[in-house]
Amino acid sequence: MQPELDPDSRWVSALAGVPEARARAAIEEASGETRLFRHLERMHRLGGRSSYIEIDAPLELYALVRLLRPRHVVEVGVSSGVSSAYLLQAMHRERHGTLHSVDLPKVDRRPAARRASRSASWSLPTGHSSGWAVPFPLRRRWDLRLGDKAEVLPLLGEDLPSVQLFVYDVPHGERQAALDFAALDPRMAPGAVAIADHGPGGGLCAPLRRWAVSRSAPPLGRTGLGLYGFRCARVRRPAAALRPPAGRERLDRGRARRPVEATGP
Ligand SMILES: C[S@@+](CC[C@H](N)C(=O)[O-])C[C@H]1O[C@@H](n2cnc3c(N)ncnc32)[C@H](O)[C@@H]1O
Repeated sequence: MQPELDPDSRWVSALAGVPEARARAAIEEASGETRLFRHLERMHRLGGRSSYIEIDAPLELYALVRLLRPRHVVEVGVSSGVSSAYLLQAMHRERHGTLHSVDLPKVDRRPAARRASRSASWSLPTGHSSGWAVPFPLRRRWDLRLGDKAEVLPLLGEDLPSVQLFVYDVPHGERQAALDFAALDPRMAPGAVAIADHGPGGGLCAPLRRWAVSRSAPPLGRTGLGLYGFRCARVRRPAAALRPPAGRERLDRGRARRPVEATGP
């Protein structure tokens, strides 16, 4: 695990709607969470590999929680739990909010010697489940739901009264991405923020671009990463804008057949 060296305070400032100095201060506080970083690093080492796939901007997630003070955060894609841990640590400092995380755990059944040779993966070490590296004291604010996002997100959309921050760090076909965002869209009030990872150098996919238009939330790219943020404006356009065009469906099915890990988030 590597420390994040180049956090983007302008990005956080634009998403949270606060002056950049406040965003910078929140990010500095996040980089000062050295006990959390060292814990995650140690857990990764004990997990048998030096690297588990994780979000590239954990400090910005922490800062967003500090600045937005969300009551409900939804996160899709947990892996060992780096993003979850930073979100939860910020909630712990705030003494406020619940993190609802969704993950479909992936078990690596290959012999240990072959597993160790891989540089990055989110497959679980033997005997662990999603979020295995998250410190236990932080878990009291954590509602971790294991299962396919296609099934769990609609349930969360029904259960939660509101969602102020949505972190989407998971591989996605275009059709499913539209459905995933549609599941939470009615719960996202003006001022709610969504973050979507499209992997290194990834461009924003068409359904999320359409969702952004429907919420008057221009995509804001995090410098240097395929990570986009959206701050929902006051207007909420009709849900029809979220529906993917019919022709997309075949493309999505083709993608779904590829191994999940090869597609990247
Ligand atoms: C990029 S990793 C998440 C990294 C994590 N946010 C972090 O910072 O450590 C993507 C995660 O998505 C999960 N995943 C893949 N397909 C999924 C699905 N259909 N539903 C829910 N989770 C899924 C994988 O198991 C993996 O843990």
